[in-house]
Amino acid sequence: MSSPSSPANSSPATSLFDRQRAWALLQEHTQSPSLLKHALAVESCVRAYGEREADALSLSGDWRSAMLETYSATALLHDFDYEKHPSLEEHPFVGVAILTQQGWPEEIRTAILGHADYSGVPRETHLAKALFACDELAGFLTACSLVKPTRSIHDVEVTGVKKKMKDKAFARAVNRDDIVKGAAELGVPLDDHIAFCIAAMQRNAEALGLQGIAG
Ligand SMILES: [Fe+2]
Ligand SMILES: [Fe+2]
Repeated sequence: MSSPSSPANSSPATSLFDRQRAWALLQEHTQSPSLLKHALAVESCVRAYGEREADALSLSGDWRSAMLETYSATALLHDFDYEKHPSLEEHPFVGVAILTQQGWPEEIRTAILGHADYSGVPRETHLAKALFACDELAGFLTACSLVKPTRSIHDVEVTGVKKKMKDKAFARAVNRDDIVKGAAELGVPLDDHIAFCIAAMQRNAEALGLQGIAG
């Protein structure tokens, strides 16, 4: 699939596959508000790691924007087939097949396959590692927020999160080992990773429905 030439012909090739298109595709396939919020929560964290990586690589202008769009799109799309195809046999393979048909970049598709450990697809890029590291943690931080009297991400702290990670009865669907493994693969100490993702979700609290309730 080639991109039409435009005055901004220095734009990187991924510009057709941006956040906006990913969001539209996600909404086409997903009705559940909690799944949509999960996608946005993972995106908050993954995009923040993308910003950090872009800084580390001294990227600017179109290249920086393209990288952030790729990080956002990957995070938004990582579970876009989950509502209709939640089984281990189908998720995320059905979704990735659709992405392949539509011409989404290989970097995005491989990272999405890699978020499912059972796919056996290795996580080699920073994007793939960031997605895996943020997926379960974003869900866990959402659960930690929702048990606060305020239901706010602004009241979530690293020490409390780590305590809850040891409480097996709490948010039992969230795989603690994946959180620990994800941080290690990304090369970020666990406490720093948790703090980084809390801050990223706090910046997007309203969209995530975690801004807190009055009184
Ligand atoms: Fe998934
Ligand atoms: Fe997910």
